[in-house]
This record gives sequence, C-alpha cells and structure tokens, in this order.
Amino acid sequence: MSRTKLIAANWKMYKTPAEAKAFVEAFLPLVAGHTRDEIALFPSPVLLPTVVEAAKGSNVAVGCQNIHFAEEGAYTGETSVGQLKAVGGTHTLIGHSERRQYFAETDEIVNKKLHTALKHGLIPVVCIGEVLAEREAGKTAEVLKTQVAGAFAGITPEAAAPIVIAYEPVWAIGTGKTATPEMAVEAHQIIRAEVAKLLGASVADGMRILYGGSVKPDNATALCGQEEIDGALVGGASLKPDSFTAIVKY
Ligand code: 13P
Repeated sequence: MSRTKLIAANWKMYKTPAEAKAFVEAFLPLVAGHTRDEIALFPSPVLLPTVVEAAKGSNVAVGCQNIHFAEEGAYTGETSVGQLKAVGGTHTLIGHSERRQYFAETDEIVNKKLHTALKHGLIPVVCIGEVLAEREAGKTAEVLKTQVAGAFAGITPEAAAPIVIAYEPVWAIGTGKTATPEMAVEAHQIIRAEVAKLLGASVADGMRILYGGSVKPDNATALCGQEEIDGALVGGASLKPDSFTAIVKY
C-alpha cells in the first residue's frame, strides 16, 4: 500500500504569536502546490488561533502538542480536545518523550488520550521511542512493543485508521545524532509488526509511521526516501521556514 507521507513541525515551547504568524506567512508560498506530502504544524496552545488563522485555506494543517484525556474539568494548565477543535486544530501529538520524561506521562495516560482524540475525530500522532540505555541494553524492540501495546489498549481496528505513530529515539532528539535510515527502518518494521499483531495486517499496512530525532535538510532524503518511513516529526529544524521547507521537499 502506498501511504501519503506526513511532514510535521513540533515547535515545542518556541515562538510568540507574531513570530508564528511571520513563519506561516513566509512558509505558505514556499510550499504552495506541494501535494506529494501532508504538512502539519504543532505550535503551543497559546499560538493555535494565530497559526490556524494564518494557515486557513492552505495545504498546511495545525494541531496541538498535547491534549488532556478528559472532555473538560478542573485540570489547571491543560487543553481539552473540544478547545483544540473549537479553534480549528485537527491533529494532536500524544505521548511525546518530553511529556513522558518531564510530565510523567505513562503508556496508560497515552492510551486514555488516544481514545479521547479518536472519539472526537482528531488525527493523533502517538510518539514512542527508546532511551539510550535501552538501546545499549538491546531492549529497543521490547520497549517499542510495550509502548505500542500500551498506547493501543482497547483500540479497535475500525477506529484505528486515523492513527499516526512517530518513532522518535530519545537519544536522537535535539542531540544532532540521527538514527541511520537502516536503524529507523528496522524500528519501524518492529512497530508495524506489533500493530499487525494487535489490529491486523491491513490496519498495520495503512498506518503511517514517522521518524523523528534530529531530522535536518541534509538527512531528510535518506530518511524520508525509505518506503518504510512515512514522513518526519521535526523539532529544531522546523523553526525556520527555509529549513522546514527543505525537509518538506526532501
Ligand atoms: P529535533 O528535531 O530537534 O531533534 O526534535 C525532534 C522532536 O522531538 C520532534 O518531536
């Protein structure tokens, strides 16, 4: 099956509304007419209305970096799916390694967020990946399978179509150390096989698995050019229109 690639920008905790607007205004003409791949921006929640407005009517989708699993309630500092949708967001990251590392997100929480995102028709990008000690101990496959199984608990094959997975080896995030295409492909095959075991071969075959971790213009082709790699989730190199465009057009 041929899967449309998704090239996504995770801006993390960067940019003011004015900087976000300037990015979109510079970026849209650079990617106008680029239909080969889907493009999405994931800004901080406070930037969402600005970015959605600036990207309106374009080929660029906008999503949140995180959602809460509850529909609403007394959860100070959190963003609900309803709030995201009301400002025009269509996608959300779930379980980014920085959420797992600094905000104690577990596979169980990731699973609850995934159920909420699917229930409300969002496109969820579920982030998984091993830390360096796990890779060095030969536990990468085990960690990835556990994260996939944990995230997908109770998800039916019928509901799973919108799900995107981002494989982001934690040791490659923000470090300039990228997984080689061979390492990324091997991890993606492990992940796809686990999805097939849980949800069946046809769901697994259709599911997009992105690579993330120090993706730059100079390594994007080697990574995204692989049939098994269905796009990229880009941090640092997504902050400037030129470098993100070079990755989009790898
Ligand atoms: P970098 O591209 O800065 O390594 O970040 C990757 C990432 O965490 C994307 O979600």
